Amino acid sequence: MQRLSLSWRQANQSVVLVPTMGFLHAGHAALIAKGRRLAGNQGHLVVSIFVNPTQFSPSEDFNQYPRSEKADLELCRSLGADAVFMPRAEDIYPTGADKGFSTYVSEGDLSQAMEGRSRPSHFRGVTTIVNILFNLTQPSHAIFGEKDFQQLAVVRKMVQDLRIPTKIVMGKTVREHDGLALSSRNAYLNGNQRRHATILWSCIQTAKNRIRQASKPILASTLRRELTKMVAATPEAQLDYIEFFNPANLKPSPRVKPGDRIALAVRFGRTRLIDNSRI
Ligand code: PAF
Repeated sequence: MQRLSLSWRQANQSVVLVPTMGFLHAGHAALIAKGRRLAGNQGHLVVSIFVNPTQFSPSEDFNQYPRSEKADLELCRSLGADAVFMPRAEDIYPTGADKGFSTYVSEGDLSQAMEGRSRPSHFRGVTTIVNILFNLTQPSHAIFGEKDFQQLAVVRKMVQDLRIPTKIVMGKTVREHDGLALSSRNAYLNGNQRRHATILWSCIQTAKNRIRQASKPILASTLRRELTKMVAATPEAQLDYIEFFNPANLKPSPRVKPGDRIALAVRFGRTRLIDNSRI
């Protein structure tokens, strides 16, 4: 992969990377299609598919994470990918006494709140694998989904701090007809949970409406209380967090105003869903 990408970059051709963990859905398809447009006829589109063990904690769903290699490859082919990079875990993280993997990259500020608070080692795994993928695929551009807004911010900060010559591009969230953001983890939901999972979008809509109608900023604590009640009234839903923050630095907004962002995480049984939106 690295030899191929270096040959493209040495010929002055762009390489656009869409990093994924596979089990591709229409949200990924939109990112891949965006990548194809960005690469144009002269550039190259690489999709990586790798369920990265280091971003899962031992209690999380690494072993159950859904996989669909054949369908993923077909989708990538149909959307015009030039290469699909699908390493094995042992290719990325060699083990053994004398050659064990021992270098990690961690961002120390933006990764602390929200997902970082609930999943302490998660972003260290993400920034480490993104670095490795960037080194192997040498991308001029890489596309990350808006749905993982904090991940996008952490990757942008890493690229800025470590002077990585890759432009980070955001791909918009794709939603079901009822507002549920597409996610590979939606496949875990049973029928009831799927119906109630629209609570994430309802909370976002309620926050947007409240701010739209207000003549001045609303206290985050007031808004959080209201949305927490909505989640508590939803069967099977367990709130993990609701945050309102400034999208530029992810700092909490004590008073919520237009232009801030809302992010939330809700569990349905063992399935944890996240969503976010500009207010
Ligand atoms: O967003 C994801 O699918 C993953 O976190 C990523 C960026 C592919 C790294 O494993």
